[in-house]
This record gives sequence, structure tokens and C-alpha cells, in this order.
Amino acid sequence: MMTTQTLTSYQQILETLGIADKPGGFAIGSRYEEGNGPRITTVSPIDGVSIKEVGSARVEEVAEAIDAAVEAFYAWRTVPAPVRGELVRRYGDKLRQNKQALGALVTLEVGKIPAEAEGEVQEMIDICDFAVGLSRQLYGLAIQSERPEHRLTEQWHPLGPIGVISAFNFPVAVWAWNAALALVCGDPVVWKPSEKAPLCALACHHLLQEVIDDFEQAPDGLIVLVNGGREVGQAVAASKKLPLISATGSIPMGRAVGQTVAARLGRSLLELGGNNAMIVTPSADLDLALRAITFAAVGTTGQRCTTLRRLIVHDTVKADLLNRLKTAFSTIKIGDPREDGVLVGPLIDEGAATMMEDALNRAREQGGVVTGGERVTEGVPGGAYVRPALVEIAHDAEVVHTETFAPILYVLNYEDFDEALAVQNEVPQGLSSAIFTNNIIEAERFCGPSGSDCGIANVNIGTSGAEIGGAFGGEKETGGGRESGSDAWKNYMRRSTNTINYGTALPLAQGITFDV
Ligand code: SIN
Repeated sequence: MMTTQTLTSYQQILETLGIADKPGGFAIGSRYEEGNGPRITTVSPIDGVSIKEVGSARVEEVAEAIDAAVEAFYAWRTVPAPVRGELVRRYGDKLRQNKQALGALVTLEVGKIPAEAEGEVQEMIDICDFAVGLSRQLYGLAIQSERPEHRLTEQWHPLGPIGVISAFNFPVAVWAWNAALALVCGDPVVWKPSEKAPLCALACHHLLQEVIDDFEQAPDGLIVLVNGGREVGQAVAASKKLPLISATGSIPMGRAVGQTVAARLGRSLLELGGNNAMIVTPSADLDLALRAITFAAVGTTGQRCTTLRRLIVHDTVKADLLNRLKTAFSTIKIGDPREDGVLVGPLIDEGAATMMEDALNRAREQGGVVTGGERVTEGVPGGAYVRPALVEIAHDAEVVHTETFAPILYVLNYEDFDEALAVQNEVPQGLSSAIFTNNIIEAERFCGPSGSDCGIANVNIGTSGAEIGGAFGGEKETGGGRESGSDAWKNYMRRSTNTINYGTALPLAQGITFDV
């Protein structure tokens, strides 16, 4: 078999990343523990072969890890932000040195093709660079005071240890989006990764911990990792010692986390499911649209939050585009992601394949016409391999309004642009959206206040593959949170408004006189 990655044996990848002998149930800085929770066997979705067993944390161990992060916070919050940035800069360098090995682990543990796996590590490097620059730009405002000889300002201070709950589909980048910002903002990070990707988490932790070990100002306990299931996630969400919980995953998971955090009046940053649509108008460049649709719908085997799930195509171009898509979907190379030319690797597990099958059966019952979507068993090494599906169906069919984490593209049609916008916005989720058009009025309307209601609205590119420089997240049931670029850093800090009187009188605001 031809492979594009040079690290092929499981053991070699784990050794290169320094985690072959690490227990990994939980880690408090440089202390790695087996944990007393149930053991997790990590199985590669590529071939179903077990990679390594790791432990998991019990609730008391989660509490111990959080306490260590609180201690670390007291030290880290007083380290100047540009010095904190230097730590993150060194982590970026470490990731550059380990890009291929970490990418190979992402491929192994969650089945991404190497280009996407290494792209994910590149996102980590990019967010580190972004955070380093940010470490000198955590600006507050100087505000004009209504009182004489008064100065009114805002300062941004470290918030406290941040809880990060991440999903299997971006097992390294999403934590990095949060961790790089949190660290420059002065916050330790408590990470509860997906049970389906504990090794990626262990590797990210270990690489950063090596940098921390050599960084005098960084306290041990600055990063902690707690592997485990739902009860571990719940313990993280419930901890009053974590002022912010950033959670990525399904809508039911986000609802549970959001309610737990709200009950203790904490902050949550939720990045949940999407049901992303693209409108293709009569003026669209169909060659460009075809490539964008294919990557967005079948890339990462349809397992991105930003995966394209609904195509809203104008009646006049539908037949042509659909024919071309049928050819692309039926010929795209599916198989072991390490094999040259493969663009679609396995689904994460059998459960995902069953959900895809169920969704396609429901689509048929609801009047859909399905092309593709069958299991692929020939020429694959085991695992849950599927052919991406195209489903011609009515826009308001129940199944179309539900996110199924698999490569299913619902093809809907429209006649009138307002109708297309209404269809685009009629689902409960609101993460990403796109339009293909060469008509500037349509493009601007799509991005304007009465256009797409999503957190991301793109023109002439697909719905997935966001750049780290922009704030990432979405509206409605997607949860409303924003992480990564732009001013998302403000989530990780507390704002202090300071009024300073440098005069000798005491004028009160609002013109109040209160002489005693
Ligand atoms: C995701 O978080 O699932 C997707 C990110 C992206 O595609 O940009």
C-alpha cells in the first residue's frame, strides 16, 4: 500500500510524540496518572485495530486537577502577557517540529486523510502565532469621563482556569484555539477531550508540557488533562472554580453543559451542531461551485461541524449541477486515508454508519431520492467506510432539519431568491452558510442583515475550512459562542472598568449633589 505519511506503525507514532509510555488517564502538568476511572481502549477507525489503552479520571481526580489549575492561575495571572505569549510562541515552534507526527496520530485516531490531519496541526500553529501577536494587544478602552479631572478606562484581566470540552472531529485544533488564547490571556486550561480521541489529547498535552517544563515563569498545573466519559465532562462543567467552559460538540451535549454552567451562573462558550447550506444561483461559476461543494460535503467524511448538508440550487442550474455531483460523488476515492489519492476516509465508528443509514432510510420515507450512501467493504481495511450520498428531497422534510454527522448532501431547489434565503434560514441550527453567485446584489444581500442568519456567511467558497483569524461559531442551536480569532479573546478575560479621580473635588456622576 502506498502511504503519504512516513510514520506508519502505531508504536512509532506514539514514540515519536513521546507518549508511548504515558498512562494518560489524567495529567496535571508534568504528572501523568493512570486514573481510577474506567479504561478506554482507543481503536483506529481505519481498521478497527486497538492502538493503546488509556485510563480515565474519576470525579475526585477531576477535582484534584482543577485545584492544581487554580493554584497555577495565581502564579500565571501576574506574568506579563507578552511573556505568556513567548510560551505560546515556543509551543508553535514545537508543533512545527512535530507537525507530521501529530498529523499521523490524528489520521490514526480519527481517520482523517493526512492533508486534513496536518491541516489541523497547521491551524494549531496559526492560532499560536495569532495568540503571540495578541499577547501585546489585549487592549482596553480609554473613555471620556463626564466628570472633570477623571479618567475612565477599561482593563482586561485574566479570568481563571478555563474548562475545554472538545469533540472527536477536531481532536487537536479546537483545544488549541482555546488554549492558545487562554494562555496568553493568563488562564490555565483544564481539558476534557472526546473519549474517541484521548491519544491526540495526550500528545498535545505532552508537547506543551515539555515547553512549560523549560519555561521558568510557567507554573506546573498550567495545563491539565482529564480523560473520561460524560461524568468527567459533567464534573468539569459543574465546577465553580472554572469561570468559563468552552464546549464543542453535539446540540444535546451543549444543552446539558450550558444548563449546568448557567445553573452556577458561569460563562459558557458553546460551538455546537450546524446544518450548513449553500445557495447556488443562476449566475454561479459551476466549476468552482462543484469543487467547493464536494470538499465541503464529503471532506472529513462529512464529520465537520461546518460540513455542507443542504444545497439550495436554482431550478435553471439544478440538473446540470446534480449530474456533475453524481459523477464526483460516485468516483471519489474512498478507503484507508493513508493511501495515495484517497479523499474520503472512514466514519469514526459503526455507530456513525448506523446513524447515516437511519437518516437515509428516513429520507426515503419522507419522499427523498437517494444516490450513493452505501457501505464500502471492498478494498478497505475494515472500519466504517461509506459512499457519500446525494438526496433530492423537499426543503421542509423533517430529516433535512436534523444534523446527521455523515456525508449526506440534501439537494433542494428554489425559483426565487427570497425563497432561497428563507430555506437557508429555516433550520434550528446556525453555524455556516455560503452562496455561489456572480451577482453582487445577491452576494451582499446574503451577507447583510436580512440574509444568512448564521455565524459564518461565505461568498463563492464553501461552508467549511474556516481561517483562524475570524471568530468561529454560530447562532441559534449552534450555541452563540465565538472562539479562535477576531476579538474572541475577550471571552477568556474579565473586564474591569476603572474610574480614577486625579482632582481634589468629588463630583458625582449624573450631576447628583450629596453634600454631607
Ligand atoms: C469544525 O469545527 O467542525 C470545522 C472547522 C472548519 O471547518 O473550519
